[in-house]
Amino acid sequence: MIEKNLIIENINKDLQTVKNMPDFQIVKAKYLGKKGEIKELMKNMTNLSIEEKKVFGQKVNELKNEVEEILNTKLNEMLEEEKKNAELKQWIDITLPSTKKIVGKEHLISSTMKEICEIFVNLGFTAVEGNEIENSWFNFDALNTPKWHPARDMQDTFYIESEDEKLLRTHTSNVQIRTMMGNEPPIAVVSAGRVYRKDEMDATHLPVFHQVEVLFVDKNVSVAHLKMSLEAFAKQYFGDEVEILLRPSFFPFVEPGFEVDISCIFCGGKGCNVCKNTGWIEILGAGLVHPNVLENVNYNSEKWQGFAFGIGVERVAMLKHNLKDMREFVKNDVRFIEK
Ligand code: DAH
Repeated sequence: MIEKNLIIENINKDLQTVKNMPDFQIVKAKYLGKKGEIKELMKNMTNLSIEEKKVFGQKVNELKNEVEEILNTKLNEMLEEEKKNAELKQWIDITLPSTKKIVGKEHLISSTMKEICEIFVNLGFTAVEGNEIENSWFNFDALNTPKWHPARDMQDTFYIESEDEKLLRTHTSNVQIRTMMGNEPPIAVVSAGRVYRKDEMDATHLPVFHQVEVLFVDKNVSVAHLKMSLEAFAKQYFGDEVEILLRPSFFPFVEPGFEVDISCIFCGGKGCNVCKNTGWIEILGAGLVHPNVLENVNYNSEKWQGFAFGIGVERVAMLKHNLKDMREFVKNDVRFIEK
């Protein structure tokens, strides 16, 4: 006798406890394996007559088919479940808005320094680096500004070591001295970088700001050469229509010294509130290198002359990009940096 219903009932019971594939394989082996219950039933056949074997064999086969079907159904259920879980895990909502990647951009100060240096490099100048930490001799004395000189009060200096007078350079003019001391004329260099002064921050001052220094030394250098270079710079940086104006001024390291204006880029020189109705805007200091400076670096000032100027990077960038407040440069407001 085959207890068919009991076997089916047992399988179903066993399958209820199945949680995973290994569990399932154990149940499968229990019924269909080499030592499984179906095989055991087959063994009973040996003592039967041929007629009985036929009937019995058919019954066992039917049972085996039924068992296989039950197990297959369970297996399919399990595979289906597995697939669903995997899909759930990997599911991506492609309709969600993406996380926006913000691409970095060069800061306006960096790009302005590059832009200015490039103008001079194209004129044949060499771009050089300067030190920000400087000995006071390079920053002041060699530039014809000895300790007692009133011009020294014009620049409030950050000293770092008072004994040997190390300081944070107050202008890029120190590069003039370093360059001339390391080289023989002729010299044509441009140098951009940070400078430091004890200034209160306001719309037109920062304690850390940037300059570009230009120095040219050769024979028979005159104000005409200076003017030509200034004009080339002004026209290339601000636009071809821009004119320049040299006004006599004083810097200890030049003689003669000038303050240099450009014709107002906002009103074209007619007069507006930016140029305070003068038609001109001051952009930089310039002059012919003072003979004392040349002598300080052991150049013969009878033989060599030079011109130099220092451009305020923030100042020209603010004019060109119509910015009203210098503090924008250091606020780190992404809306400004992204522009
Ligand atoms: N060093 C000056 C300053 O920081 C700017 C300057 C003026 C530089 C005249 C020069 C120059 O090279 O010739 O205000």
